[in-house]
Amino acid sequence: MEYQIVEAVAPASSANLGSGFDVFSVALEALKDSVRVEVGDERGIRINVKGIGSNIIPTDPERNTAGVTAKTLLKLSKRNVGLKIEIYKGVRPGSGLGSSAASAAATAVALNKALGLNMARTELIEIAAMGEVASAGVAHADNVSSAILGFFNLVRSYDPLRVVNMRLPENAGFAIAIPNIYYNTGRARAILPRKVSLSDLTCNVGYASTFIAGIALKDVNLMGEGMKDRIIEPARARLIPGLKHVKEAALNAGAAGVTISGAGPSIIALVNTDRADMKEVAKAMREAFREKGIKSDVICSRTGPGAQIVRAE
Ligand code: HSE
Repeated sequence: MEYQIVEAVAPASSANLGSGFDVFSVALEALKDSVRVEVGDERGIRINVKGIGSNIIPTDPERNTAGVTAKTLLKLSKRNVGLKIEIYKGVRPGSGLGSSAASAAATAVALNKALGLNMARTELIEIAAMGEVASAGVAHADNVSSAILGFFNLVRSYDPLRVVNMRLPENAGFAIAIPNIYYNTGRARAILPRKVSLSDLTCNVGYASTFIAGIALKDVNLMGEGMKDRIIEPARARLIPGLKHVKEAALNAGAAGVTISGAGPSIIALVNTDRADMKEVAKAMREAFREKGIKSDVICSRTGPGAQIVRAE
């Protein structure tokens, strides 16, 4: 069955979680992008973007994650139609919260329905990940996995793409600070080391394993221990003035673990909500950024479901 107008929403997400570079991610239910697709006779793909940071998002379909995703799906559908895509941004672009992935995921899920493609969600992840090339310069699937599947995801293989979807313990919550710092993901990837030492690798494998053990044992504090990172975070630290100070503030306010969210500049703290208050942790992070002369917005969020259709006609 095909539809002319479909609307879908997809959540923000936080990738890496410290030790899981390009592998771990979590869907954040507090922030969403919304996408409306309309199938029509006029050929081509037209994109219109509204909402937070829409002024910096390219509307050229070749340079827009949703546009690249739409182009692939339209080609697969073999239909001789055009598309109008309206994106409403609830996730600030360039914040490290999977903004482009949320738009790509909502577009993929909406078009899968509109064009009657009946593709599995795991197939849509692969297509939406290709859309990420438009914004990050490389097809990483961590954010789109969570934007499409929701909850926690682990990309266990890139070729072929395989994702493990898991639920976090119920007492896991997140406090996130989104500072007024701007750089693009391409820059945040360009500064990463091309080689790593064996001792740093050993540490990070230990941290990543600890994080997954924490999920398996429903131990949020253990998960927090696993959010440390000897490789990526030290390289990116210079992009985020105040990172060390904000991390310390979050831990002092009771966070179980804290790290850069995705490529940054947002900082994400994991909170054991049986033991500490997400709002207090968020407040401490905002205050710590303020002490360094940087304004920030803060949010608290649990994990939640992936992209959902909200209208189809
Ligand atoms: N895993 C990616 C990175 C996320 O850290 O570059 C970017 O959105």
